[in-house]
Amino acid sequence: MIDTLKQLRETTLEQLQNIQDASALEALRVKILGKKGEITAVLKSLGSLDPDARKEVGAAANVIKDEISAEITAAKSRIERIAMNAALVNETMDITLPGKRRSQGNLHPITQVMTHIEDLFINLGFTIAEGPFIETVYRNFDALNTPDNHPTREEADTFFIDHHTVLRTHTSPVQVRVMETQQPPIRVIAPGTCARRDEIDMTHTPVFHQMEGLVIDKGITFADLRGMLEIICHYVFGKDAGIRLRPSYFPFTEPSAEVDVSCYVCKGKIKDNCGVCKGTGWVELWGCGMVHPNVLCMSGIDPDVYSGYAFGLGISRITAAYFGLPSIKPYFENDMQFLTQFKGVR
Ligand code: DAH
Repeated sequence: MIDTLKQLRETTLEQLQNIQDASALEALRVKILGKKGEITAVLKSLGSLDPDARKEVGAAANVIKDEISAEITAAKSRIERIAMNAALVNETMDITLPGKRRSQGNLHPITQVMTHIEDLFINLGFTIAEGPFIETVYRNFDALNTPDNHPTREEADTFFIDHHTVLRTHTSPVQVRVMETQQPPIRVIAPGTCARRDEIDMTHTPVFHQMEGLVIDKGITFADLRGMLEIICHYVFGKDAGIRLRPSYFPFTEPSAEVDVSCYVCKGKIKDNCGVCKGTGWVELWGCGMVHPNVLCMSGIDPDVYSGYAFGLGISRITAAYFGLPSIKPYFENDMQFLTQFKGVR
């Protein structure tokens, strides 16, 4: 029996020398030391020996078992070391390679101008109101006193979703939403996206941005409106810029006016060759007026007690003007080479 044990010890140690991978090592450990392993079998059979032989064989088997266990542990760490070295060689990184540059993004210039103007109004005590891009025909037209035969209601001008729903053609329906839920005093602006079935040219894109303003309180007059328009003009275009009001028509305001701003390119010097103002010295940017009594009534505000003014700022056009460009088209096209020039403007 002792001879068998010695033989077992020798072959096992020899095998351990040559073993190269962890699974073969584990298989050998199970074969020798496992529950049904060869040394375990010897230890189990001790009971059938006479006491002297049992002592001798038992002691020898335990010594060999300990020796083989220690060798298995050593072989295990040798295999792990080899694997680790191989991994280190394979996974080395070349620290001389140039890094991957992460380009820094910037807000879209329209967003930049929009937030810049929002800052002005927040400082003046206005709050920001919001309404959906998909709007009811009622709020986009009816509640704004728009006659049934008004041209903007034509399918050729407006994107209809169904008979009762449109892509809003302006931010004015947010006025209705605010008046439906709040009583005066009201001081809100409503920035947002609008859509019209327009062909793309220098001043039109089918999707564009506006910012609505609405002020309703006791005793609000056209002079308040005019003062506010000048504040906006000076804030956006500087103290030297001026505004001009031209009488106009909007169904939801009476009286109404178009607001022209002195040309930001030729500075109102009226040169025939100015591509922005076409030699007139003025650029049409906004619409405004005193809120029509019908509009106040329809949304539950008493026109005998309250009056108000409203304005719609063409944010897309203001953005083009703010950066000195004659066209709003490139802000719509989303060409990254164009848009990334506006890094850090604000
Ligand atoms: N909603 C008008 C448009 O898109 C702009 C406008 C004009 C808004 C007069 C107003 C306003 O609030 O009072 O052309």
